[in-house]
Amino acid sequence: MKILVTGGAGYIGSHTLILLIESGYEVVVFDNFCNASKESIKRVEKLVHQSIEVIEGDIRSRANLQEVFDKHKIDAVIHFAGLKAVGESVAQPLKYYDNNVNGTAVLCEVMAKNNCKTIIFSSSATVYGDPATTPILEDFPLSATNPYGRSKLMVEEILRDLYVSDNEWRVVLLRYFNPVGAHESGTIGEDPNGIPNNLMPFIAQTAVGKREILSVFGDDYETIDGTGVRDYIHVVDLAQGHVNALDRVVNFKEPMTINLGTGQGYSVLEMIQSFEKASGKKVPYQIAPRRAGDIATCFADPTYAKEVLGWEAKKGIDEMCADSWRWQSNNPNGYRGLI
Ligand code: NAD
Ligand code: UD1
Repeated sequence: MKILVTGGAGYIGSHTLILLIESGYEVVVFDNFCNASKESIKRVEKLVHQSIEVIEGDIRSRANLQEVFDKHKIDAVIHFAGLKAVGESVAQPLKYYDNNVNGTAVLCEVMAKNNCKTIIFSSSATVYGDPATTPILEDFPLSATNPYGRSKLMVEEILRDLYVSDNEWRVVLLRYFNPVGAHESGTIGEDPNGIPNNLMPFIAQTAVGKREILSVFGDDYETIDGTGVRDYIHVVDLAQGHVNALDRVVNFKEPMTINLGTGQGYSVLEMIQSFEKASGKKVPYQIAPRRAGDIATCFADPTYAKEVLGWEAKKGIDEMCADSWRWQSNNPNGYRGLI
């Protein structure tokens, strides 16, 4: 089976390519490299000992996408391509609606035209807003507090509507919790542009000496130690969730919405402690005011993923921190300078 991986050069996409190829799928990467380096693909090629077909293009371009379908008989699409910076989405909402929502609509249109009607979509736990209780089940109420989150909610609805219009579509909406970690080789990983927004890359860059001090955003939440609690999931476990979804997707007769998390929450201070243990480095930190839009606690109930995908996360917090550290310490500047 040949799989089109949009955004395949990015953080989660690059890890997923490895597992797809190891599982016997053929892959074609489609990426405009707005938030990725070609070096990530080169490194994946080294790890899987084969070359990977990459088509540079934008999901908003019908012509760019048609080029893929003219060249390849695509059986299914794993759709990672999208913008993901919450703050930027507040400042530039149209950019997010155009890229994430319009881009997905164009992608689906070109897929349908070429009779490819299977899509696995990267959604996010952000669609649960501030949940009344945890762990979070898939049928919890949905809300979003920023354009990024709304773009995910809109795409979920677009894909459900598409199925209603034509039930040959096979749709899987995977709601990721907090992806962290890196491939165990330490050769691919997360390479954020500029100052990281997310906790794990900020911790890693502080440990390696690129950042002076980590700000812990709030220590007065109703949590174990007052700091925010999240469900961190190893990116390789997350990648495996996509392979399992693909293996089973033909049997899904209606759109499937599935949490991909571990079911275990850790606080910011617990993450710092684990990272220090894994890296042998000190992570200097200071308590700072709460970050606008943050919630106290967010973690998944992953029961449904186990039931319908036969999937559960295997890697714990020690492995997440050790693998993030290996990537960060081997590549203090990420892929930069290597393009
Ligand atoms: P990433 O930025 O590393 O990867 C996204 C990739 O898509 C990049 O390679 C980028 O160049 C490409 N891209 C963006 N817009 C494009 C366009 N218009 N046309 C073609 N390519 C385009 O991000 P990631 O962390 O790998 O996330 C992948 C997906 O998962 C995204 O949709 C993101 O919103 C979603 N997600 C990520 C997280 C997370 O914390 N990383 C959490 C929940 C959901
Ligand atoms: C953020 C996004 C969310 C997105 C998710 C995964 C916001 C408001 N939410 O969620 O939409 O789906 O990333 O990409 O941006 N923290 C610090 N110091 C830091 C960074 C983070 O203390 O420098 C804390 C946060 O307050 C939070 C925890 O660490 O308690 C995790 O933060 P982060 O990695 O940004 O993820 P989320 O807030 O869950």
